[in-house]
This record gives sequence, structure tokens and C-alpha cells, in this order.
Amino acid sequence: MVQEATQLGAAELIALEDKYGAHNYHPLPVVLSRGEGVFVWDVDGKRYYDFLSAYSAVNQGHCHPRIIEALKVQAEKLTLTSRAFYNDQLGVYEKFVTSYFGYDKVLPMNTGVEAVETAMKLCKKWGYKVKGITDHEVKIVFVSGNFHGRTQAIISASVDPGATTHYGPYLPGIEIIPYNDLAALAHALEDPDVAGFLVEPIQGEAGVFVPDDNYLTEARRLCKQHNVLFIADEVQTGIARTGRLLATCGNCGCAKSCENKYEARPDILILGKAMSGGVFPVSAVLADDEIMLTIKPGEHGSTFGGNPLACAVAIEALKVVEEEGLAENAMYLGKLFRERMQRMIEKTDLVTLVRGKGLLNAIVINDDEDSHTAWDICVKLAENGLLAKPTHGNIIRFAPPLVMTEEQLHECCDIIERVVLGFEK
Ligand SMILES: Cc1ncc(COP(=O)(O)O)c(C=O)c1O
Repeated sequence: MVQEATQLGAAELIALEDKYGAHNYHPLPVVLSRGEGVFVWDVDGKRYYDFLSAYSAVNQGHCHPRIIEALKVQAEKLTLTSRAFYNDQLGVYEKFVTSYFGYDKVLPMNTGVEAVETAMKLCKKWGYKVKGITDHEVKIVFVSGNFHGRTQAIISASVDPGATTHYGPYLPGIEIIPYNDLAALAHALEDPDVAGFLVEPIQGEAGVFVPDDNYLTEARRLCKQHNVLFIADEVQTGIARTGRLLATCGNCGCAKSCENKYEARPDILILGKAMSGGVFPVSAVLADDEIMLTIKPGEHGSTFGGNPLACAVAIEALKVVEEEGLAENAMYLGKLFRERMQRMIEKTDLVTLVRGKGLLNAIVINDDEDSHTAWDICVKLAENGLLAKPTHGNIIRFAPPLVMTEEQLHECCDIIERVVLGFEK
């Protein structure tokens, strides 16, 4: 008989994962059993500030009561119909989400990587049907250092040996240029077979690399000039994380994305993660009719995509973002965070820099990429009640839920400062 999870201690639960689960992750040795707002608790009742937010899926905070209520109400009525039939939630959600982000149409999926795959297919279809590229010749341009997920098509665009080694052969029709390099982009777009340029506005997984201020606007302009689709993967940067509703949004001050106020309005917008506040896998691809209507019935889909539960949850999660002013809070707290980290850096040579936007930030540890210092610092942070995780060896990403208060943020900065300044290799 399967033992009740609650009867098991942390060591036993870790051992279970190790014995029965695939070894495709390397978690910190913390076993969580409860979450509320900016906090999570482990099985022994110890409380932590969550500074990862499930890789920015829990922007609205853990178990947000409004989102959970929406989930419960819908779960008792109807959860899944498949797209073989209409349901009473999908159209309402589609109207809501297209008006929220300012696009003609949405294609609902579940995970981030599925949405990126969807965007690639959409881009190819547009390339053949609208741009008139010869069949099988379409190319999509990506940038090095990208992270768009883990499927076969997506890793074909990766330069990370950890993602690609022994997973070939890879998908053709992909070109990879350096990130934040407009000259390289201009050159790549001269190829008439290029249909799209797919980019993260800030590279989160790579270690929170923020491009030059004009990069996105210029990239979009170059795409327009060459009749190429500008495709933004905002799976991690979207939904208020970087201090605006989207990282491609303009600086108009409104927390909503609006037609005229995009700094670099993507032709195809890819969203996931915090679309549901981390409650349910919800992702989406948004585009206008000329692009979206190239896909015909039967050509793409997903059993769970656009299910009633996902629709109800996503509407509430997006309302929470707007009504609780999460973009504004991320913008304000992000500045405070970087100021505090900057002051800390002046007192130590263990950390070389802090970078980021809104509440998507990282510090770089003064060490080799393959040393354990960043990991050891994260273990110490956990002991001190704050959960963060290294990304790419010597970089620690800090991305707390956006419902954090100023007082809590200062307390977290105190913890980080105490651990970093007291750390001995
Ligand atoms: C920018 C970006 N795109 C896509 C993905 C993939 O999302 P998922 O893990 O939900 O498939 C991620 C996940 O971290 C991401 O950061």
C-alpha cells in the first residue's frame, strides 16, 4: 500500500524521488508541503521566503485565494471537454485574454514549451502561406544563450551542451545568432527564407541577461523591414515579472498592455507560467488574424489546451495581476532590491554584479561556472529561510512572488546580505 506522504520525513521523501523518479533535476535538499503568498513551508514546518516562484509561475503568490476559488468553483462544474465540442468558458476567456493583451486571436496550450512550439509552427505556416517561401525552406532565427524549453524542436535551437548533447539529430531550419547583436540580426534577416525571429526579451534561464535599451525596438524594426515575424517568448518575463505587464511593453506607466504602448509589439506573443498564477498549466500564443488564421482545423491542437478549468483560472489570475498592481510593485521593489544588492557588493568581492528588471534579478558570484560556491550560498540561504537556486553555475537568480511587501523585501535583502557577507568558501 502507498504510504501517506504526510507520514514521511524529508529524508524519506527525497529518497523516494531519487529511487522512483527520473534524475532530470537536481533540487536543493528542501521538501515543501505548503505555500501562501510569498512563503512556503517544508515538511518540518520551517518557513521560507520563496525567491524562485516556480521559475516565475507564481507571480501572484502561492495559493492566491481568488485564483484557488476560481479553480474550485470551475472544478465542481466542468474540467475538460476536449476541443471536439464547445464549452461555456473558452470563448469568454479568449475574448478576455485577447483584449487584455491587444491581439485579434489566441491559441491556448498548456506548458510554455508547447506554446513556443506552436509559435514556431505558426511562423512556418505564415512563411509559406503569406510570405511565399518555397516549401521546406523556411528558417527561424534564434539567439545563443536562449532557453525556450526542452522538447526536441526547441533544443534544436539551443547552444547549451546540457540541453543538446546526445539528443541529435536536430530540427533543421534554425539559425542561431548572438544575443543583443543587431548587426548579426540585420545580416541574418537578409536571407529571404527567414520567416521569424524568436527571442526572450530578457534571458531568464541563461542568468537574467538584459539586452541594450534599444535592442527590442530595433529588432522589431528590422523584422518589419525584412517582412519577418518578431516573436517574443515572454513565458518567464511576462505577466508583470519585469515591472511591466510584458517586457516588450512600453514605458507608458499603465500596467496593462495596450495597442499603442508596446515598445516592441511582438507579431507573435508567447505566454505561460504566471498566466495561471502557478495553479494549473496554462500557456498561450497570441497573434493577429493574418498570422493566426493560417492554421486550419486539424492542423494543431492539444487535448487539454483551452480546457474550462484553465480558462477560469487564467481569467482570475490575470485580473489579480491588474487589480493588485503587481507590475507597479515589481517595478518599485525591483529598484530597491538592486540598490540593496549594489550596496552589498561594495562590501565584498564574492559577488561581482547585480542585474535585472523589475523582480527578475540575478547576482553573479565571483567564481568559476562549474564551482559549487553559488550552490553552497543557496544552501546557506535556505538554512536562513530564503529559497533561491543557481542558474548556470555561478549565477543566482532572485525572482520572488510579486505580492511581496517593501518590509518583506528588506527582510529578504537582510538575509541575503548576512549570508553573503558571512560566507566562507
Ligand atoms: C523563456 C521560457 N520559455 C519557455 C519555457 C518553457 O516553459 P515550460 O517549462 O512550462 O514548458 C521556459 C521555462 O522556464 C522559459 O523560461
